[in-house]
Amino acid sequence: MKIERPIIALDFPDKQTVDNFLKKFPANQQLFVKIGMELFYSEGQTMVQELIAAGHDVFLDLKCHDIPHTVEAAMRVIGKLGVKLTTIHASGGTSMMEAAVSGLLDGSNGDPSAKILAITQLTSTTEMQLHQEQLVTASMQTSVLNYAALAQQAGLGGVVCSAWEAAAIQAQSQPNFLRVTPGIRLAGNSHDDQKRVMTPDQAASNGSSAIVVGRAITQAADPVAAYQLVEKLWRKQV
Ligand code: C5P
Repeated sequence: MKIERPIIALDFPDKQTVDNFLKKFPANQQLFVKIGMELFYSEGQTMVQELIAAGHDVFLDLKCHDIPHTVEAAMRVIGKLGVKLTTIHASGGTSMMEAAVSGLLDGSNGDPSAKILAITQLTSTTEMQLHQEQLVTASMQTSVLNYAALAQQAGLGGVVCSAWEAAAIQAQSQPNFLRVTPGIRLAGNSHDDQKRVMTPDQAASNGSSAIVVGRAITQAADPVAAYQLVEKLWRKQV
C-alpha cells in the first residue's frame, strides 16, 4: 500500500504561520499534513479539527510513550479527532502497543483508515547511545527490525523509519504494513540536521510507502512548486 500524496510536516509554531503557509495552495487542494508536538501543544485540538474540516488528512505525530492504560486513554481521545495516522514508541512494549490499538479503535468507532505507527529507534539515537546508554547489545539495525516486527504483531499499521531501512522492514512485513519515511530532500537541498537523506524517487524505489517532507517544501522559495515536484518524483512521473 502506498500513500500517494507526500505528507507535509507542518513544523510551525502556531496557527497563524500554518494559515499563511496553506493559503499559498489552491483553496480546494486537499493535502496530507503532519502536526507535531510544537504545533499541537501550542494550538491543541482546534488546529486538528480545523485542518480536517478544511478537507485535509492529518497525521498527528505525538510519539506517545507511557503505561498501557494511559496510552490507551490518550489514543481514545486521538481516535475521536478523526486523524489518519498517529505515533507511539515501540519501546513502550507490546502491551502498551496493543492497548494503543484498542484505544484508537474505540475512539474512532472502528475506523479502519486510522492507523498507529511505531517509532522504533529515534534517528537521532546513535549506535554508541544504544550500547552505552540503553545498554542494548544488539546492533541498531537488529533493534529497529525487532521493534518493527513487535509493532506488526501488536496490530500497529506501520513504522516511522529512515528510507534507508524501509526495504529491510518491507522484506519482513506484511505488504500493508506502512514504512513512513521522513528525511526527504530534493537534489541540491541542504540536509539540515538530517544525517541520511533520500530524494522522493529514491525513497519510492527503496520501499517507502509514504514520505514526510518538511523543510524541502516549507522553506522553499516557492512551496507549491516544491510540493508539486516532490509529488511528481514520489509518483515517479518525472
Ligand atoms: O524538515 P524535515 O523534512 O527534515 O522534517 C522531517 C519531519 O519528520 C519533522 O517533522 C521531524 O520531526 C520528523 N521526523 C524525522 N525523523 C524521524 C521521525 C520524525 O525527521 N525519525
